[in-house]
Amino acid sequence: MIHNGSEPPRSARIAVLASGTGSLFKAFLHAASAENYPGHVVGLVVDRECLAESIAHDAGVATQRVDPGAWSDRASWDEALTRAVASTEPDVVVCAGFMRVLARSFVDRFPNRIVNSHPALLPSFPGAHAVRDALAYGVRVTGTTIHLIDYGVDTGPVLAQEPVPILAQDTEETLHERIKEVERRLLPQTVAGLITGAVAPPYRKEQDR
Ligand code: GAR
Repeated sequence: MIHNGSEPPRSARIAVLASGTGSLFKAFLHAASAENYPGHVVGLVVDRECLAESIAHDAGVATQRVDPGAWSDRASWDEALTRAVASTEPDVVVCAGFMRVLARSFVDRFPNRIVNSHPALLPSFPGAHAVRDALAYGVRVTGTTIHLIDYGVDTGPVLAQEPVPILAQDTEETLHERIKEVERRLLPQTVAGLITGAVAPPYRKEQDR
């Protein structure tokens, strides 16, 4: 992706979007700070006050907060979010627990360059309550999916998946924590592969982009 023909590969610029406790962001930062990682984090953008901000602050990563409450309507917020992320000049945008749906205009600004980590084996259990929904359904195995973001909610091309068994005594919290353990490894690994070209999106017969 970043490796371009005869030119020497350069370190990809990675912007991260987050909303939550930031444990996935922290793991990503750690992985991306390794000397041989093919990219580096150039900025964090959040949509609310959250722990991810203090993790970024401690690591010296510039943070921008684009809170929907500060904008009069959804379209202005979408524009502000796009501007904030674009200002970091990213090669790749990584959603590490970002709990909002990205607008078409945002997806168009960073085509095939937005990676999301979802806590279920898509296409099962898309949406904001994937862990709860998997438990409620009674499946025996769930997991994590790393995928590109397209116009739909958790519908983009799958880059990597890994299963996590559901145990009889699992609560939403215990299961989510075991899934996150996988995400913290699989997300940086997959983004690295996307940058170097070792991971490519699968061909899809019916793609909407
Ligand atoms: C992760 O499990 C991530 O997959 C999920 O939020 C969690 C963030 O964990 N994202 C979504 O559900 C997006 N739809 P963290 O706050 O501990 O980093």
